[in-house]
Amino acid sequence: MAMKRFCRTKTGLMENIKECVRFIRKKADFNPEIALILGTGLGNLAARIKPAHVFSYEKLPHFPHSTVRSHKGQLVFGELAGKKVAAMEGRFHFYEGYSLEEVTFAVRVLRELGSKILVVSNAAGGLNLGYRKGEIVLIDDHINFMGVNPLVGPNEEKLGPRFPDMCEPYSRRLIDIASKASAEVKVPVRKGVYIGVTGPCLETRAEYRMMRNFGADLVGMSTVPEVIVAVHMGMEVLGVSVVTDICDPDHLEPCDIQEIIKTANEAGPKLDKLITAAIKRF
Ligand code: HPA
Repeated sequence: MAMKRFCRTKTGLMENIKECVRFIRKKADFNPEIALILGTGLGNLAARIKPAHVFSYEKLPHFPHSTVRSHKGQLVFGELAGKKVAAMEGRFHFYEGYSLEEVTFAVRVLRELGSKILVVSNAAGGLNLGYRKGEIVLIDDHINFMGVNPLVGPNEEKLGPRFPDMCEPYSRRLIDIASKASAEVKVPVRKGVYIGVTGPCLETRAEYRMMRNFGADLVGMSTVPEVIVAVHMGMEVLGVSVVTDICDPDHLEPCDIQEIIKTANEAGPKLDKLITAAIKRF
């Protein structure tokens, strides 16, 4: 019985995606080329979008509702840097109690609507002690340390293969474009490996030490499930983190979530500039 919670039911997944797509299509004749997931404290990028249509998550069939207060909970379709985009203002986390099928449902819908690229941002802890608070990091790989995987359960062949390859979940091409954009708009970036955990508690000193030994540079409670599902469906992914706290196991101070959100908010404009410049070059 306990296992059931971690398995995708799959019953009706394809139908649910189609129903949501039909609902959106009825109201919006819009095919987003690029899907954006805006992380904690990083939702302001949506304000730069010339909106064509806005859907509250509550209105969308089979969409979970966002319970995180710092997240808005809406899908914005419109134009950014001359490209057609769909931005998720607010994402779903495993720690909120959603299944990973629910956490990743929106990515499936956006792929079905035509998005071939996923840009995902997040607030993350810096395990790499060379990082500074507020720095921006392009994710070049990840470690799934959630103990769960959104693809567990029967595979829907129409969506993607049973055993998706993971040799390059974060597109080299998009990382190169973002690096060039970074120089152009003078927003410095670092590169690093993101380790995804379930949360909701922050890590112990021993856990941070272990993660650093694993080779992770960043730690966070999101992104990995969405990226796995995007790769499953053949999307190209760009992942960007803002370092909101430094996870130094030998000098660890109590972590304040308000402080994390504040740091993410402060870095927001830099990140918006970088993502906009990168998207322009996609
Ligand atoms: N751990 C996990 N998730 C996080 C952290 C952290 O230190 N900082 C921001 N998100």
